[in-house]
Amino acid sequence: MSVEQQVTDAFRARYGSAPSVVVRAPGRVNLIGEHTDYNDGFVMPLAIDRATWIALRPRDDRRVALEFLDFNAQAAFDLDDIQREGKQPVEYIKGMAWAMQQAGHTLRGWEGVVAGDVPIGAGLSSSAALEMAAGRAFAAVSGIEWDAPRMARWGQRTENDWLGLNTGIMDQMISAAGQAGHALLIDCRSLDFEALPLPPETAVVILDTSTRRGLVDSAYNERRQQCESAARFFGVVALRDVSLAAFEAQADQLDELTRKRARHVIYENDRTQRARMAMLAGDAATLGQLMNASHASLRDDFDVSNEALNIIVDCAREHAACYGARMTGAGFGGCAVALVERAQAADFADHINATYPQASGLTPSVYICEAAAGAEIVVGG
Ligand code: GLA
Repeated sequence: MSVEQQVTDAFRARYGSAPSVVVRAPGRVNLIGEHTDYNDGFVMPLAIDRATWIALRPRDDRRVALEFLDFNAQAAFDLDDIQREGKQPVEYIKGMAWAMQQAGHTLRGWEGVVAGDVPIGAGLSSSAALEMAAGRAFAAVSGIEWDAPRMARWGQRTENDWLGLNTGIMDQMISAAGQAGHALLIDCRSLDFEALPLPPETAVVILDTSTRRGLVDSAYNERRQQCESAARFFGVVALRDVSLAAFEAQADQLDELTRKRARHVIYENDRTQRARMAMLAGDAATLGQLMNASHASLRDDFDVSNEALNIIVDCAREHAACYGARMTGAGFGGCAVALVERAQAADFADHINATYPQASGLTPSVYICEAAAGAEIVVGG
C-alpha cells in the first residue's frame, strides 16, 4: 500500500471522513557539494521518491492533534502555548509552528495523520521532510503562500533554535524546492537555485552502509568551527568567498588541520560548479569523476568518512556501469551515492548486495531512486 493510501485510510478510520488536505515532502540525496552549505557555498542535491505524508483537516480552534503511524504515537499541542518537550517527532511540527508564528503569521489548528518512507537516521533527511510537510500543512490551512526559501529557513530555525541542532540549509531547501527529474544547484547564501536535468540514461543509486555513528553532532559542530576559523584567517564572512588562487597563495600560513578543512570546502565549491557545467552538458563521465574527487576530499581532508563508506564506494566503483560514487550527507556513517548507467542499475544493485557484505561484514540497503518533486499539496488546499 502506498504511504498516501496509508495516511488517507488511517485518517478516515480515526475521523470518519476523508481528509480535506493531503501533503507530502521528500527526503533528499546530495550529488555533490558536501559540508559547503554552512560555508555559504554551493550544493547539488535532489529530492528522492521517498517522502513524509500528512493527511489532515483544519480545526476551528488553535490545537494541532497528530497521529504518527510509524511511531504508533499520538501528540497534541496548542498554538498559543507551544512548549518544548524532548525530541519526539512532534517537536519538528511544533518547531515549524513556532518559527512561522515568530515570523508574524497567524496559524490555524488542524488534526491529521503522519507517515513516511524516508529511512530514519540514514542521512536522507527524514527530519527535513517532516518539517517541510508540516510547513505545507500549516500553509494550506492558514492561507499562507508557499515560498520555498522562506519555508526552508523556518525548517532550519526548527533544527537550530527549537531542537538545538546546528545544521545548514541544504536539506530543507531541496525538500521544499525539488523538481522531478532534476537536481538543484543551490546557492546557500542567496538561496537562488537552478534545476539541472540528470545526465541522459543515468540513475542515482543510494547505498546505505547500515552504519550509524552517535557523535555526529559534536564532530559536525567541530567542523563548522574549523571552517569559521579559516574564514576569519582569510578575513571573509565565509569560505565561499575564498578563491582557489587566494587559498593556494596563503595556505601555508594555516595550521595543517585548518588548512585541510578549508581546502575541502574551497575545492568542493569549485567542483560543485564544475558539476553544474557537466550536468548542463549531459556529461555523466565528468560528473562521476567530480563525485570521486569529492569523496577523496571528504575522506582525507575533511575527515568525515568511515571505513564502511570507503568500502561501499570502492565496491560501487568496481562495477563497469558506475560513473562515480561518494559518501553523501554529514558522514561518519549512513549513505553513499552513485551515478550509474540506467540500463545497468539493477545489475549494479546486485553487485553491491553481493560484494559489500563480503568486504565489510555488513548488510547494505540499496535504493535506485528517481528525482522527485519537492513539498506539495496532493489533495485539497
Ligand atoms: C547534514 C546537514 C546539512 C549539510 C550536510 C553536509 O545533512 O543537515 O545542512 O551540512 O550535513 O553537507
